[in-house]
Amino acid sequence: MGLKQEILKLLEENREQYLSGQEIANRLSFSRTAVWKSIKALKEDGYEIDAISNKGYRLDTTCDLLSAEGIRCYLSSDYHNVPIEVHQQIDSTNTEAKKQAMNGAPHGTVILAEEQTAGRGRLGRTFYSPKGTGIYMSMILRPNLHLSQSIHVTTSVAVAICQVIERLTNQKPQIKWVNDIYLNQQKICGILTEAVTDFESGNVEYLILGIGLNVHTKHFPVELQAIAGSLNPEVVTRNQICAHLLNEIFPLCEDFSHPFLLDEYKSRSNVLGKWITFMQNQQRYEALAEDIDAQGGLKVRLKSGEQMTLNSGEISI
Ligand code: BTN
Repeated sequence: MGLKQEILKLLEENREQYLSGQEIANRLSFSRTAVWKSIKALKEDGYEIDAISNKGYRLDTTCDLLSAEGIRCYLSSDYHNVPIEVHQQIDSTNTEAKKQAMNGAPHGTVILAEEQTAGRGRLGRTFYSPKGTGIYMSMILRPNLHLSQSIHVTTSVAVAICQVIERLTNQKPQIKWVNDIYLNQQKICGILTEAVTDFESGNVEYLILGIGLNVHTKHFPVELQAIAGSLNPEVVTRNQICAHLLNEIFPLCEDFSHPFLLDEYKSRSNVLGKWITFMQNQQRYEALAEDIDAQGGLKVRLKSGEQMTLNSGEISI
């Protein structure tokens, strides 16, 4: 880790207090001049660092840049050494993660971007990913899992994301089947899971788990304005949210074979008990969403009384 990164780590760890140049220099065994130069470089990178004479340096409370060091500060010790990459701009973190997974990147690798120019959503859609306002994160996972169990990944992760948001912001998001996260009737987060499996056995070789969370996103394109929203937390930073998400998701990945958190998932569903519409074989259906089964399938009852289970796709409420 270079001096710049080490200083950033110190400042992140001490967000509440000022550290004098001398103290930073002593702690990192560098000269004050070297510290001063690195602080200047961090400022040029966009870090807002308050400097007060006789007190020292502190990351400004409004400073909300993503960084591997900033995330690591809040990671639980079990995951402290996972590889974390933060890109300023990328086409899609999922696409990058796929490339790296194909080249053997280890389980647990995390790829983030401040901005995605071609963020991808489910069903071939795009994911709006403007600069500096969201969390666009992909994890490379190599779980011991059969493809048939992979629905558990997304559903469990949806529950984990809700739990983290609830804990950090006191707001209670809901899950729109299958895995969109809603807050105040607006979608704030989507999950795109892409799996590569062994053709013969159906075992998952690797999974790319992509999470797109609108944190401070304000100006959505017209076509999204009616549905999309943002978390808008008051005090927590994106680094903190990322770390909390990783702290929840990594343990899940150690054993996705468990029945997913069905009761938790159901209690957060914003579709159960509601009339929904969906398309199947080019036909539009209207049905009552009655239940979610242990595989994550949505059990619906058509007007005719016939029951159906939906296993994937998109519904409208
Ligand atoms: C959806 O809502 O349909 C899923 C959206 C998933 C978006 C995330 S952002 C990080 C990762 N990279 C991508 O290109 N997509 C996912």
